Amino acid sequence: MKSIIGIGNALTDVLAVMPDTSLLAKYNLPAGSMQWVDSKTAQTIWEELKVHDLQIVPGGSCANTITGTALLGMKSGFVGKVGDDDLGFLFRQGQVKNGITPHLLTGEKRSGRAMVFITPPNAERTFADYMGAALELSADDLKEEFFQGYDMLHIEGYLVQSQELVRRAAEIGKKLGMTISIDLASYNVVESNYDFLHDIVENYVDIVFANESEAKAFTHKAPEDALDDIAKVCEIAVVKIGAQGSYVKSGDEKFRIAPFPAKAIDATGAGDLFAAGFLYGYARGLELEICGEIGSYISSRIVEVIGSKLSDTAWEEVTAKVAEIISEG
Ligand SMILES: Nc1ncnc2c1ncn2[C@@H]1O[C@H](COP(=O)(O)OP(=O)(O)OP(=O)(O)O)[C@@H](O)[C@H]1O
Ligand SMILES: [Mg+2]
Repeated sequence: MKSIIGIGNALTDVLAVMPDTSLLAKYNLPAGSMQWVDSKTAQTIWEELKVHDLQIVPGGSCANTITGTALLGMKSGFVGKVGDDDLGFLFRQGQVKNGITPHLLTGEKRSGRAMVFITPPNAERTFADYMGAALELSADDLKEEFFQGYDMLHIEGYLVQSQELVRRAAEIGKKLGMTISIDLASYNVVESNYDFLHDIVENYVDIVFANESEAKAFTHKAPEDALDDIAKVCEIAVVKIGAQGSYVKSGDEKFRIAPFPAKAIDATGAGDLFAAGFLYGYARGLELEICGEIGSYISSRIVEVIGSKLSDTAWEEVTAKVAEIISEG
């Protein structure tokens, strides 16, 4: 089986189930909103949250994907940047626990984090996010040696905040003969980096993951036509359409992948884990349709939980079901 290394924003997900909404009021966080907070506020909130019962897991789009590939049994590595602090330590520790080899650089700022408050009465979610050291990852940081020994490279689209960084990663991947995949991240990322992303996809990328709005921003077309356009400029195009499933195309081969039935409560991480399942199938040399089905199955499990982490028991079920999908395929 092929191995994979990802490069992305190292953000720790901090999930706090609160007894009431007092902390939201204290930090001026409107319930249900997502706010960017500055370094000082990020730290004050973290110090205050620490004493509560928290779920702390390595997060960020690419890191989520790499967690999935590692838990499915692939040799998996991750390149990112954290701060010299407790959250940076926890990020590294979380990755190691999941079997990932972290190549984490240390920045000047504090570690990036996505803090989520879950408050009564309806388990409403309020986000306070801080990118911190994650955003300090730069082209000059990337050493070829991080990537040596891996067959595949997965790039997080959000990294285009430094186009030089994305280009350098893609250049290294190409030089080392790796299969390069990219997740287009979000429609506004695509809109504001339109020419750059077209250049990167056409010249370096083998596998593109886009959801409906990203595919539209990239091609100005509806999903199926967008799929055709993207497949013309890379080896494999994947267009995800949420609860309706996804499309996969390579050359003249095209598949509509059905969603697995799910009691969806939170879509966070669906795309990231779809990519993990798909890339795992690809790493095993499976048919594209099977790769898509594995992605579809794992993402259907993620939408049934809050956040992007599955329990150990759920992962046992997932690996058993994936083996079944493969043997039936
Ligand atoms: N309600 C649902 N039921 C079953 N499967 C779902 C549901 N929502 C999403 N999925 C699965 O997850 C895949 C990816 O979802 P989506 O199209 O929302 O990607 P995305 O926008 O990249 O996700 P993310 O918000 O994590 O970035 C879908 O193609 C589908 O297979
Ligand atoms: Mg996505």
